[in-house]
Amino acid sequence: MEDIRKELDKLEQYLKIKPLYWDFDKNEFLWIDTRLLPWKEVYRNTKDFRRVAQAIKEMEIRGAPAIGVSAAYGLSMALKYSNATKPKDLLNYAKEAYNVLASTRPTAYNLFWALNRIWNIILKSSEKEDVEFMKEEALKEAHKIYIEDIKNNVEMGKHGSKVIENNSRIITHCNTGALATAGFGTALGVIRYAFYEGKNIHVYADETRPLLQGARLTIWELKKEGIPSTLVVDGASGLLFNKNMADLAIVGADRITLTGHVANKIGTFNLALAANYHNKPFYVAAPTSTVQPTENPNDIVIEERSPSEVVNIMGQLAIAVEGTNAFNPAFDITPPELIHGIITEKGIVKKPYLNNFKAIIYNY
Ligand code: MRU
Repeated sequence: MEDIRKELDKLEQYLKIKPLYWDFDKNEFLWIDTRLLPWKEVYRNTKDFRRVAQAIKEMEIRGAPAIGVSAAYGLSMALKYSNATKPKDLLNYAKEAYNVLASTRPTAYNLFWALNRIWNIILKSSEKEDVEFMKEEALKEAHKIYIEDIKNNVEMGKHGSKVIENNSRIITHCNTGALATAGFGTALGVIRYAFYEGKNIHVYADETRPLLQGARLTIWELKKEGIPSTLVVDGASGLLFNKNMADLAIVGADRITLTGHVANKIGTFNLALAANYHNKPFYVAAPTSTVQPTENPNDIVIEERSPSEVVNIMGQLAIAVEGTNAFNPAFDITPPELIHGIITEKGIVKKPYLNNFKAIIYNY
């Protein structure tokens, strides 16, 4: 664990906002409850994997990479605090925890990617027939996933910042910042990196109906760091491009296929259409852990959430009469032809996405 703690110390410089982490003294997992932002900054903590699953399901923790990292800690915590004394019993318990965690949010591909990584380590380590070894290996892997996520975000920042010229005005959607990852952020990480490099930039943050991740979380992050920003309603992007008030768009992703189809927060597709109509670049930033190894965009599962989120603002204020029908898909799919480039930790992937993703992910 010493080398892991040293690695973590080196990454502290990128963690001005620390959304989730492992407490090495108390051996528990902590996260900031994003439902309460920007009104209150409250950290939650647990040693119980079911509580982690609940936090993901109820969106205290949200954003695909943050969901993945938290699920990895959740599964390794299930092992750590299990009373099983035989590897077989521990494996059975781990499978149960895997299923509970996997059933929380269906679109975020990082969730399944991270759970499978931990699961494979558990299986491999079980060959030694030593439950303590299995527990240690699983937690070590969760730390690795956490560290990799932060490092990947910084790498994405380095690559992605090249597409942001000085004096750029950038539209972004939802929250893809520190609060959506282990730290630093994906699309917002790219923006953050460009700002740290001294570029003069201005960010237009879509409010992101219905749960207002843009208004509540993105603006909170940008203001905390003094990055110039303006909040707009989701429908403003057409006007912003048309009036030459914005130069490009950068968004994150919940799931990407090898063909370059991008599932991201509902409204992303509309933003891509508005950017393309005006010949403005539309970029996606996501780690390769968001890429599902499929060539079939129909494999993307779109989460449908409660209609009440559309009819009521943050559960507080009804904005339509009782009995109103509402449809609440949480994500949409932007086709590859509308995407200028996909910024990953390994570089910027361009069309044709299928060949280029295969080349960077599988080296062929
Ligand atoms: O429903 P959410 O808030 O989990 O949706 C998050 C997004 O759509 C993000 O853009 C995506 O997960 C990328 S986060 C780095």
